[in-house]
Amino acid sequence: MNVVNVVPMSHTMPETQVGVPHVSVMAREVVNLMQPAGATLLDLTVGAGGHSAALLEAGAASVIGLDRDPRALELARARLERFGERALVRHASFSTFEEVLDLLGLETVDGLLADLGVSSMQLDEPHRGMSFRAEGPLDMRMDTTRGETALELLARVDDEGLTEILAKLGEERRARRVARCIKQELEAGKLETTLDLRRAVVRAVGPARIGGVDPATKTFQAIRMAVNRELFELEGLLEAAARRVRPGGRLAILTFHSLEDRMVKRALQTDAWEPLTSKPLVAEEDELSHNPRARSAKLRVARRREVSR
Ligand SMILES: C[S@@+](CC[C@H](N)C(=O)[O-])C[C@H]1O[C@@H](n2cnc3c(N)ncnc32)[C@H](O)[C@@H]1O
Repeated sequence: MNVVNVVPMSHTMPETQVGVPHVSVMAREVVNLMQPAGATLLDLTVGAGGHSAALLEAGAASVIGLDRDPRALELARARLERFGERALVRHASFSTFEEVLDLLGLETVDGLLADLGVSSMQLDEPHRGMSFRAEGPLDMRMDTTRGETALELLARVDDEGLTEILAKLGEERRARRVARCIKQELEAGKLETTLDLRRAVVRAVGPARIGGVDPATKTFQAIRMAVNRELFELEGLLEAAARRVRPGGRLAILTFHSLEDRMVKRALQTDAWEPLTSKPLVAEEDELSHNPRARSAKLRVARRREVSR
């Protein structure tokens, strides 16, 4: 197996990341492994445009950035404006990225990048409803233009369905108990906001231990993943990637959840791909010191094999 060495990280935050709304995770490793010089790349989760900017700075011929969050697209557009026509930004869910390539008349690209999960902007803006740290509506949609909100999902699923979501996507050991409390609060008309949801979880499992992880963490993650159909999206992306990355081209995926990492690992073990990271790369200590969000990140990169599709 061909394992690529990564240039050591610098000990300070890259200058391009200071003061931005979302600090890109493992940007240096992504750039090293994507080999962007002269390449046409698709950034499936453009977010605040950090990875895209780094790839363009490293010589990518062009980057097409997708995001399902209209607010992220505004930020990405502003951040990537200086690259002129080399940067293109489109509103789309990445499971449908093939449609975007078809519209642009591109059969294949030289590389695909996906940086999964939520951005700091989404977590930090209370009205998005993704954080249990501030009061906001139970929305949690990344794409605010369509789909079911968290509150609508909670009203639609029964106790059993909610238990399954919490157990599978949140790996919540006390899923049944938490699901029952949430449904009870909902039926009593007492569940409208993020803090109501947090209170329902605390009622089920007790308060946080001092210095421990907030008891609502797993529940919020699970419901957000269900609202945004995150595993379904990833499945669609992995299924289409081998069709649209040219032979010799690269696929890089950053995950923040063990289920997602397992899906990526399995997909990269198929004949279509030659893994370039035998084990997933994780962030170096110096990156963790300025970006705690990188703590759970795993980066896997593979090269498209020269086989018939
Ligand atoms: C972690 S952020 C990306 C940050 C970006 N790499 C940067 O450096 O600024 C993840 C982004 O992916 C977007 N996203 C998540 N799932 C998506 C999907 N299925 N389709 C399109 N965008 C998605 C989110 O809206 C969010 O803006």
